[in-house]
Formats: sequence, C-alpha cells, structure tokens
Amino acid sequence: MRSEHLELLDADELRRRAGFARDADRDRFTLGAALLRLAAGARLGLPARRVPVRRRCPDCRRPHGRPTLPGHPLHLSVTHAAELVGVAVTAAGPVGLDVEHEVELDWRRLARRIQAPGEADPIRSPAGFLRCWTRKESVLKATGDGLRVPMSEVALGPGPTLLRYRSRVCPPAHLTDLPAPPGYAAALTVLAAAPPRVTPQAAGGLLAMTIDRAICEKTRVGEERRMVSGRPAGGG
Ligand SMILES: CC(C)(COP(=O)(O)OP(=O)(O)OC[C@H]1O[C@@H](n2cnc3c(N)ncnc32)[C@H](O)[C@@H]1OP(=O)(O)O)[C@@H](O)C(=O)NCCC(=O)NCCS
Repeated sequence: MRSEHLELLDADELRRRAGFARDADRDRFTLGAALLRLAAGARLGLPARRVPVRRRCPDCRRPHGRPTLPGHPLHLSVTHAAELVGVAVTAAGPVGLDVEHEVELDWRRLARRIQAPGEADPIRSPAGFLRCWTRKESVLKATGDGLRVPMSEVALGPGPTLLRYRSRVCPPAHLTDLPAPPGYAAALTVLAAAPPRVTPQAAGGLLAMTIDRAICEKTRVGEERRMVSGRPAGGG
C-alpha cells in the first residue's frame, strides 16, 4: 500500500478508513477502494480519481453499502480476506465477488446452518465449507442483500448453479469458482442472461499502471500550472 493509493480515496472513504482500529483492516480497505477506482477507471477511460464510486447502505444511508457507479453502465464488487483484496468490474450485470481465508471454526456446525433444504452437494471438509460459503456470499453480494438473507435461502446445484433464491426460482445467475492461493477460496456471481467471460487478473500490473498514471496526472497539473504562470512572463 502506497501513498498514491490513498490519494485515490474520496472524503467518505477517508472517513471510513480513519475508523479502522487495526492497520491490517485499514490497509485492506484502502487497497480495495483504490483498486476499484483503478479497475473501473481503466474500463471507462477515466482517471481513477474521477471515478464516482458511491456506497449507500439501504438500512442506515451511511456510505458502507455495495459500491455503485451512478451514471455509468458498470457493476462493481469488492472483497477482502487476510492478505487478499479483490475487485470485480463488469457491464454484464450485477456482480458479487467473495474471497475467504481458512480460519479455525466449527465448520460442521456452520455447514448445517448454511446449507439449503434439498441441496444435493453435502459439505464434507473445511475446504468444501469455504467453497460453499464463498459461492453463497458471492450470490448474496450480487443481489445486494448481503447477509440480510440467510445462506440457507441460497440453494446451489452442481456446476455450481443457483437453483433457488429465497425459495423462489431465481434470476439467471452465473457462478464461477476463481483460482485462489492455498488456504483461500474465491467465487464470483454475475446476474445476467448470458454467461459472462471471466478474466481473473493479478492486480499488481493495474496498481503499477495506475500509480504511473497518478504520477502523470500530477505532472500534467504541475506542467499546466507552470505553463499558465509562465505565459504572462513569456509575453502572453
Ligand atoms: C456484503 C457482506 C456480506 C460482506 O461481508 P464480508 O465478508 O465481511 O466482507 P467482504 O470483504 O467480502 O466484502 C466487503 C464489501 O462488500 C461490499 N458490500 C457491502 N454491503 C454490500 C451489499 N449489501 N451487497 C453487495 N456488496 C456489499 C462493500 O464493497 C464492502 O467493501 P468495503 O467495506 O471496502 O466498502 C456484508 O457486509 C453484509 O452482509 N452486508 C449487508 C448487511 C449490512 O451491512 N447491514 C448493515 C446495516 S447498517
């Protein structure tokens, strides 16, 4: 995390950042917010700093809900867990991205709570639990409900596919398990009629590119200032 990333955050994001007690949470949040602007900016052909990300919680109106881009046809999702931060940007439809890291927990007890009635694929291991969790959370993030809807109301089938959502036949949803380092699981859901093309990318290049771009912007502003202030001295 570098100071260039911090410069991409807006006032709401800086306030939220200041509210994190732990350095690791602060850094994860900062990187997620910066990456989101960089990825969306690259798609829109906009400088990252001018990407108008909005987050509005439907319950309390505070800026911590799902990220949106008012006025632009892109859907966004952010996730963080341990050492990983991910963002998804697509025009295909509402998107949910989730990454989770293995932690010590009573996965058998939790597995009973997250499985939907009639789901065919039983959870048999910690890795299976993590995979099921990320798939379901990616669905819940794509719908925008988040954990307001219990995972037991997200019924998955093989593939994975979404069979039912809140006991109803669901909107067309495309689920993908994403490659993740050992100890992590990651999944993506896009709500769209046609299956989207999913292209996982390491963020390093994007960050480097945008850091360069941020530096270029600064330089351009500096040059403009120099030109403006130099004009009168140069005789107009
Ligand atoms: C969405 C949710 C499942 C993510 O939880 P998580 O596993 O801890 O976190 P992840 O790192 O995977 O995702 C966090 C991101 O989810 C996004 N997000 C938040 N609410 C979301 C929603 N309703 N739908 C989709 N995405 C959401 C945000 O971008 C957030 O990133 P940020 O904190 O950097 O802004 C969880 O925050 C949730 O259920 N939220 C809805 C309920 C709620 O917040 N109620 C508050 C009432 S005041």
